[in-house]
Amino acid sequence: MELRIACIPGDGIGPEIIAEARKVLDKTADIYGHKIHYTDVLLGGASIDVHGVPLTEEAIHTIRQSAAVLMGSIGGDAAVSPWYRLAPQLRPEAGLLALRKALDLFANLRPAILYEELADACPLKENIIGGGFDIMIIRELTGGLYFGERKTETENGVRKALDTLVYDEKEIRRVAVKAFDIAMKRRRKVTSVDKANVLDSSRLWRAVTEEVAKDYPEVVLEHMLVDNCAMQLVRNPAQFDVILTENMFGDILSDEASMVTGSIGMLASASLNDSRFGLYEPSHGSAPDIAGQDIANPIATVLSAAMMLRYSFDLDREADSIEDAVKTVLKDGFRTGDIISADKTQVGCSRMGDLLAERIACKI
Ligand code: IPM
Ligand code: MG
Repeated sequence: MELRIACIPGDGIGPEIIAEARKVLDKTADIYGHKIHYTDVLLGGASIDVHGVPLTEEAIHTIRQSAAVLMGSIGGDAAVSPWYRLAPQLRPEAGLLALRKALDLFANLRPAILYEELADACPLKENIIGGGFDIMIIRELTGGLYFGERKTETENGVRKALDTLVYDEKEIRRVAVKAFDIAMKRRRKVTSVDKANVLDSSRLWRAVTEEVAKDYPEVVLEHMLVDNCAMQLVRNPAQFDVILTENMFGDILSDEASMVTGSIGMLASASLNDSRFGLYEPSHGSAPDIAGQDIANPIATVLSAAMMLRYSFDLDREADSIEDAVKTVLKDGFRTGDIISADKTQVGCSRMGDLLAERIACKI
């Protein structure tokens, strides 16, 4: 099969982790007889440095010619980077938001899994983690507060800022359908998270989610208020299967869930639209403080590449091979600095990529 992939190395550790994901993808393609065509695309700070803007029309055009996008990370250290002296709509993050909107990537899948081999890194007590947990957070990604009207003005000498949170029922329905479809392939439970005791947008969210649930009688739907959910994630994470929520709640809760696994450097993500097209990136950020030192953990990006093979190209066996390689490398005792523990072997980013590529095996 021919795979057309747009690659966004981005900023900070992005280029390093993308290089390792490509190593692993190339080895997988070799073994299974596929041909990958990569096209590099600039986004975020890397695009600002060359074009003065975080996303160009040309970049969107190139991405549209591809079947999927593999992304590293974007953004820098706001305290020191010149990118953050630009107007808000010209900063790196604005490029990513605009790209999500342009491609209509409304469903953001963020798995938060406790890896058995890394249970030591989990900050929760053993009696809480018990048999581990495997949560799929589905965050609405192109609506709500991050895309509503916003402005800052001065009225009678008083500064005032406004952000608007708008959802229509179609936006809620399509992401809810994705969440229920995914729950059907998992443990058949959806926890829809909102703030329906205060917000109108949440009350509509709840009503539409209930309508969608009628088409999925085998899936249990429960509603949970966002503040309670933040607490339940550290009190009893194993109660969750699929968490469905709006844009800002999902942004916050997915960071919390990933930290609860103790290994944010391990967590992948997929952003999907209504076709097979998707953008795949690690859940972590660009970590400018460790960029260029060959110490970043490339596993989240490698696992994002596996999600890409699964969701955009329907290559389940190939994706399984990559996920198995990750488990084997951990069993073999190799760790990057972020997940190191006593009696394990510490390796850098590039060596980790080599070790993973070596472990890709054919699953026929
Ligand atoms: C994320 C990030 C982005 C978001 C930023 C970089 C705009 O935090 O992907 O979670 O808020 O969506
Ligand atoms: Mg975030």
